[in-house]
Amino acid sequence: MFKFEELRNIHIELTTKCNARCGNCPRNFFGSKKHSWIKDTEYTISEFKKYFSHEVLSQVKFILLCGSYGDPAACSDLEEIIDYLMSYDLEVQINSNMSLRSKESWERIGKSLNEKSQIVLSIDGLEDTNHLYRRGTRWNKIEENVQALRGTKANVVWECLLFSHNIDQKEAINKKSKEWGVPSVLFKYPMGFKVDDNGVRYMPLLDSNGRVESLLYPHNQDVSRVYDLKLKLNINRIEHIQSGEYEPKEYKIKESNQEHSIECRSLKENEVYIDGNKNVYPCCFFGSYDNPEQFDQQLLDYLHSIDRSKISLKNSTLREILNNQTYSQVESSWSCHSYSDGKLKICERYCSKKEGEVFHLYEKE
Ligand SMILES: C[S@@+](CC[C@H](N)C(=O)[O-])C[C@H]1O[C@@H](n2cnc3c(N)ncnc32)[C@H](O)[C@@H]1O
Ligand code: SF4
Ligand code: SF4
Repeated sequence: MFKFEELRNIHIELTTKCNARCGNCPRNFFGSKKHSWIKDTEYTISEFKKYFSHEVLSQVKFILLCGSYGDPAACSDLEEIIDYLMSYDLEVQINSNMSLRSKESWERIGKSLNEKSQIVLSIDGLEDTNHLYRRGTRWNKIEENVQALRGTKANVVWECLLFSHNIDQKEAINKKSKEWGVPSVLFKYPMGFKVDDNGVRYMPLLDSNGRVESLLYPHNQDVSRVYDLKLKLNINRIEHIQSGEYEPKEYKIKESNQEHSIECRSLKENEVYIDGNKNVYPCCFFGSYDNPEQFDQQLLDYLHSIDRSKISLKNSTLREILNNQTYSQVESSWSCHSYSDGKLKICERYCSKKEGEVFHLYEKE
């Protein structure tokens, strides 16, 4: 898509490990068990220095430590990696659920970061609501860790996903952020709701046996308890997925969408995504759908058509991967008129200018 010399941003998945089981995170099965095909990985400081050498870091401007399957705070060498990144004049962003590591460690990270870097707190509510989506996180720990960032140089931003269960807490969340010394809260609309036959949007959360434990709803939809129970009883399809009887369905996009133009964030920012296995992708969507339970067969076919060794930092340098134009087909796919011609559904789904999901994530003031 662009040459190595033009690369400016790198999104890195430092680890595929996490303490949480968020409802729509690709790491786990509807808020329950971690997918069996996700291998635990993490960059050690020596690997990090090898893959992100002086040649790479001296020309990029921004490093995003976020990922698809893990939380950067679960990477043991995070402190050393931040120190190393700070020896370059870079902007770094860390996104975390903040329920991992000690307060001492966060204080050290906050002190190491330069003034243009930031920590994004992924906290979706308050003590009584955050854990409903961010399953497995502990409020006391989060509070302790966030407070440890006070008085450090780190810029801190709170990103809060809005649901029906926390929409009435917006004022209280803003108040809490002041109390914590966090200057701003960005409210976001979560992705990943399903739609039932009556048009009700819902997100099922499963227990470890694959049974529907609870349901979450979008911020603008209030569902009565009676309906909640009825819906829960109807969702047995989910259990079939767990028992292996489920046939993944192709993601459907209306024909009319096919003419919408694509605004590729990666191309706009000259960004690549590098996952925990050291594979290079055009963006995190490609990385998080490169798995055996993929429901977008077109993407899977496309990724399988690429020589896997040619996208791995274990075999090639980032310079070679980008300058070989490994993903040139992605860009050329955008001008195709139909999926059968080669237009990639994943790009249409996330980045079509009119309806792409990435353009509707943040609340408009
Ligand atoms: C998979 S997480 C990895 C980073 C880190 N563990 C965290 O949660 O911030 C990547 C991003 O996805 C966001 N996220 C999680 N669930 C989401 C959802 N349903 N809709 C939109 N973004 C979501 C997280 O808040 C985070 O910004
Ligand atoms: S904290 Fe991040 S990586 Fe962990 S389960 Fe939640 S969204 Fe996924
Ligand atoms: S989904 Fe496609 S258009 Fe969107 S950022 Fe990724 S490569 Fe670019």
